[in-house]
Amino acid sequence: MKAFDNQMVYITGGSSGIGLELAKLFSSLGADILLVARNSEKLETGKQLAEKAKKNSGQKIMTLSVDVSDHRDVYGKMQQAVMEFGAPDILINSAGINKYADHFENISNEMFNEVMNINVNGVRNVTHALLPAMKEKKGHVVILSSAAALFGMFGYTAYATSKAALMGFAESLRYELKPLGMPVTVLCPPEVDTPMNLDEVETLPKEGRAMKSMGGFLMPDHVAKVIVKAIAKKQYFVIPGRSTALLYFFHRISNGFLSRFVSDFVVKRATFEK
Ligand SMILES: NC(=O)c1ccc[n+]([C@@H]2O[C@H](COP(=O)([O-])OP(=O)(O)OC[C@H]3O[C@@H](n4cnc5c(N)ncnc54)[C@H](OP(=O)(O)O)[C@@H]3O)[C@@H](O)[C@H]2O)c1
Repeated sequence: MKAFDNQMVYITGGSSGIGLELAKLFSSLGADILLVARNSEKLETGKQLAEKAKKNSGQKIMTLSVDVSDHRDVYGKMQQAVMEFGAPDILINSAGINKYADHFENISNEMFNEVMNINVNGVRNVTHALLPAMKEKKGHVVILSSAAALFGMFGYTAYATSKAALMGFAESLRYELKPLGMPVTVLCPPEVDTPMNLDEVETLPKEGRAMKSMGGFLMPDHVAKVIVKAIAKKQYFVIPGRSTALLYFFHRISNGFLSRFVSDFVVKRATFEK
């Protein structure tokens, strides 16, 4: 795998799941890392794990506690971070939530807005705050969307909406950053074995559970490797996981007909299952 010695990598959501696996992997590849999330204790644990994976003793692993949905706090703290640690060569927007996976009628305005504020505005806030400093380095912007953005999913009106918004954001940003020599990468993983999935256990309707299983189930260390390879190759759009990539192929060639036909069948079967 490519070395990332002397590269500064900022990872939002770096204290857990995919972000944490990325931190460990980038650490083993020689990068300096800034882990960004809200909970300081989880950040400290993540830092220790990334420290253990270091390739060279001189690498720096730092943490920053910030709520990405709070734009004032993000601007202040990101400016400070750039002054203290240097601008990122790679910014990975992995912070996100998947709360309120439920029938749409059970999702209040407040719940919907919370998901949009963190998953969409959070990516917007961090990327906007860091862009001026990243321009000089021709930095790489990475965005974690989801397979839910490609197909939609039963019970995911809030989450899939937020992740689909990121697809439009990434596609538009790519046009603006390409002339500046700044790569953008957007990823759409299916279900990954991380703490995020615990948030939906109680509320995700069985139809959603059945649909979700169609995409496969990946380990976070595998997804982290796929992401690092995509960054090294400067790929724009990546779907980790063969099942989801295949489903998306049929989705596109049939203008959605095939994937909806199969998903409708899976939903109907789940509805009548005890
Ligand atoms: N797991 C999956 O099945 C899956 C599938 C497709 C895409 N994804 C996407 O991949 C990304 C990472 O997911 P994951 O599974 O690794 O989730 P995770 O294990 O739950 O980690 C989420 C991370 O985001 C941070 N975070 C959440 N809200 C934040 C906020 N307001 N401000 C700052 N940090 C915040 C969390 O730390 P704090 O709570 O301490 O802030 C944590 O570090 C997400 O964008 C997710 O949508 C996940």
